[in-house]
Amino acid sequence: MAASSSLLSAARCSLLLTVAVLVLVLSHGALAHGDSRAGLSSSFYDNSCPSTRDIVRRVIQDARVADARIPASLIRLHFHDCFVNGCDGSLLLDDDGSSGIRTEKKVPGNNRSARGFNVVDDIKCALEKACPDIVSCADILALAAEVSVELAGGPSWIVPLGRRDGTKTNIESANDLPSPFDSLEILQEKFRNMGLDNTDLVALQGAHTFGRAQCQFTQKNCTSGQDRGTLVNLDVLTPDVFDNKYYGVLLQGRAQLPSDQVMLSDPFAAATTAPIVRKFSGSQDDFFKNFAASMIKMGNISPLTGSDGEIRRNCRMVNKKTY
Ligand code: HEM
Ligand SMILES: *[C@@H]1O[C@H](CO)[C@@H](O)[C@H](O)[C@H]1NC(C)=O
Ligand SMILES: *[C@@H]1O[C@H](CO)[C@@H](O)[C@H](O)[C@H]1NC(C)=O
Repeated sequence: MAASSSLLSAARCSLLLTVAVLVLVLSHGALAHGDSRAGLSSSFYDNSCPSTRDIVRRVIQDARVADARIPASLIRLHFHDCFVNGCDGSLLLDDDGSSGIRTEKKVPGNNRSARGFNVVDDIKCALEKACPDIVSCADILALAAEVSVELAGGPSWIVPLGRRDGTKTNIESANDLPSPFDSLEILQEKFRNMGLDNTDLVALQGAHTFGRAQCQFTQKNCTSGQDRGTLVNLDVLTPDVFDNKYYGVLLQGRAQLPSDQVMLSDPFAAATTAPIVRKFSGSQDDFFKNFAASMIKMGNISPLTGSDGEIRRNCRMVNKKTY
């Protein structure tokens, strides 16, 4: 029932969009927006869509009333987007034979796991009403991540913007997303490949201070008789609050995911990640500062800018060529 009502609202949204785009094209001939510099800028939408962050925030605020987990789910989408083809919104694309798109949503790291796509649709819909054809889906994910952390009590940061949306997915790369059963060395390598160091790895895994995991991925691997998909809190102390308690739990050996605990227990941890875990456990301020800096680094992974890619009208599909 939830699925069919979201389909309905997506359809209604795209009908409105088509009309809006037609009117714009007829009245202006061409759409002028953004600038063509490579690189991102925090003021990117200041003239073209000044209420961008407010709109993103309002939709997430509404969504989390019904589902406290939504902020966690949204930040994870930005991570899984940026690690595959860069932060280009590729994760949001659905299967579509006619444009040769094979969705990333069904790889092991995402299937029955990545969620919050309807909220992204709602954000896109609200933004298209306010400023049609301006804000990319990739930027929506970056802003949604920041807003989600802020709403959950974590730090706020100025989000660099101006990403454009890709027109391809990358299943092979999505299959290689970090796994909860990866060793520390493998996790370090996967992060290093994205230009992210040990501090980034420890800080960003701190996002497991909120949200849920299926018990099949936890150190305990469920309790007997429990369904493998049973949800547990990633942070057993403060499940929906963005704070540094996750690191304290890690120091007690009680982190949920094996990939969390290896940052302390792996033979390679002592010389690399363990001191950073201790530092963040001892200072929430240190954690927040580093987390914000690492999120900006992650958000800078190979964005499409200038005239590369497109501004998708519907985050789930590439734009249809109309001329
Ligand atoms: C080091 C590599 C990482 C691994 C191996 C990993 C693994 C996982 C796993 C297995 C889950 C549970 C999924 C499920 O049960 O369906 C999860 C959830 C989550 N992850 Fe990670 N993760 C990593 C890094 C990150 C990063 C960098 C972020 C964000 C900056 C992040 C944010 C989250 C959040 C917020 C959730 C909860 C999502 C929800 O409740 O919907 N993770 N992660
Ligand atoms: C994804 O999950 C669905 C629903 O449980 C399952 O039927 C399907 O086989 C999974 N897809 C892949 C590619 O693993
Ligand atoms: C968790 O338990 C299930 C069922 O006993 C088993 O099939 C699975 O391989 C286990 N997972 C891990 C990572 O050990």
